[in-house]
Amino acid sequence: MNDTIQVFNNHAMGVVTQEQIDALCPAAKEAVQTLEQGTGEGSDFLGWLHLPSGIDEATLASIESCARQLRTDCDYVVAIGIGGSYLGAKAVIEALNDAFAAYKPAAGAKVLFAGNNIGEDYIHDLMDLLDGKRFGIVVISKSGTTTEPAIAFRLLKEMLERQQGKEFAARHTVAITDAARGALRSLATEEGYQTYVIPDNVGGRFSVLTPVGLLPIAVAGFDIRALVAGAVEMERAGDDLTIRYAATRNALYRAGKKIEILVNFDPRLHFLAEWWKQLYGESEGKDHLGIFPASVDFTTDLHSMGQWIQDGERTIFETVLSVGDQKHSVVIPSDAADLDGLNYIAGRRVDEVNKMAELGTRLAHVDGGVPNLLITIPALTERYLGQLIYFFERACGISGYVLGVNPFNQPGVEAYKKNMFALLNKPGYEAQSAAIQARLKG
Ligand code: PA5
Repeated sequence: MNDTIQVFNNHAMGVVTQEQIDALCPAAKEAVQTLEQGTGEGSDFLGWLHLPSGIDEATLASIESCARQLRTDCDYVVAIGIGGSYLGAKAVIEALNDAFAAYKPAAGAKVLFAGNNIGEDYIHDLMDLLDGKRFGIVVISKSGTTTEPAIAFRLLKEMLERQQGKEFAARHTVAITDAARGALRSLATEEGYQTYVIPDNVGGRFSVLTPVGLLPIAVAGFDIRALVAGAVEMERAGDDLTIRYAATRNALYRAGKKIEILVNFDPRLHFLAEWWKQLYGESEGKDHLGIFPASVDFTTDLHSMGQWIQDGERTIFETVLSVGDQKHSVVIPSDAADLDGLNYIAGRRVDEVNKMAELGTRLAHVDGGVPNLLITIPALTERYLGQLIYFFERACGISGYVLGVNPFNQPGVEAYKKNMFALLNKPGYEAQSAAIQARLKG
């Protein structure tokens, strides 16, 4: 068994040739130099590049100790954040957790998430669950001004103070934000919360290996040192895998494959795909360019999206995340009557069936004109997830430069906010408000 993740592109051939992929390798190698030398667009946001190897012992020990305290003192810890201040932690926790952790007794606090939507019933139901419980809050916002987490924090802060008293609330609220700027920083200083800093030069979607991701992951009881160690391995692994992935997906894009579907055959990877979608979507989707990142959970979605993928418009390619070992073994029993006709797989593991579904699907989709990249992950452990996270981050920087965009900004994210603020009559938005009202009337 390989001791690292691997990337294979042999099933992408046909739609593109090895020569077409090779033709992009010089650009990908140049992108590596541009990243390493910090000479490209967005170079103010390259703090993630050598972040894994730069995390010091004191930071890890402090995060672990803070997490221990929250795990011991609280029934629940609510991680409040959105986008890059949410998806990395959610992805890693879901990938490592017992699938039914939410319904089983836990040794320490359970991690819940809020501030990643503005659903009124969602926040109501969360507050209902927290009613009478000892809970803590990890509030995460780099800008410290994002509306969704700010609303959730205002509500939960008020509830925690009312329920447990101001002193408990202050001792069990941790703020992760900019070193000096933003409303959350001022509030944390005023209330005396423990704080961690999101470095200026690390953008939200590249921040999972900072306290943004590490603290909630540690609160959930997982080994952040192994996660970071896995990322360090990839940081030091050279760029064979990242260039292979970046060059192949750009070659496919140029050949008309405008949509990349990240496929998993393990439900624990659902949120890893959500994290990946943000990473690639916000990094590459600009200047009217960029592969549209989509995702499916197989075999579940073979019964919903399978038809489209097999037979619909041929503008897609797939990147399959293939997990080697499961943690547990479940064998399909034999049945004397065999009324369901399943005795032909009796005595075999459920995972063997899943693996054959995976292989069968990949071959069918390649036959149907869907090129296929394969990323193998030996097992869902902290170490391999660390490798995968750093691999995707680095390949994203390379791929964005090969595409010709600045992978480290996200100007388009502001458009909806301006309209929302104008519609809500936020002070300072009077002119936009009048213009929107006129437009809606007209
Ligand atoms: O990647 C990004 O920069 C964004 O998706 C942010 O993570 C997201 O908008 C949340 O921002 P903030 O952490 O400032 O609340």
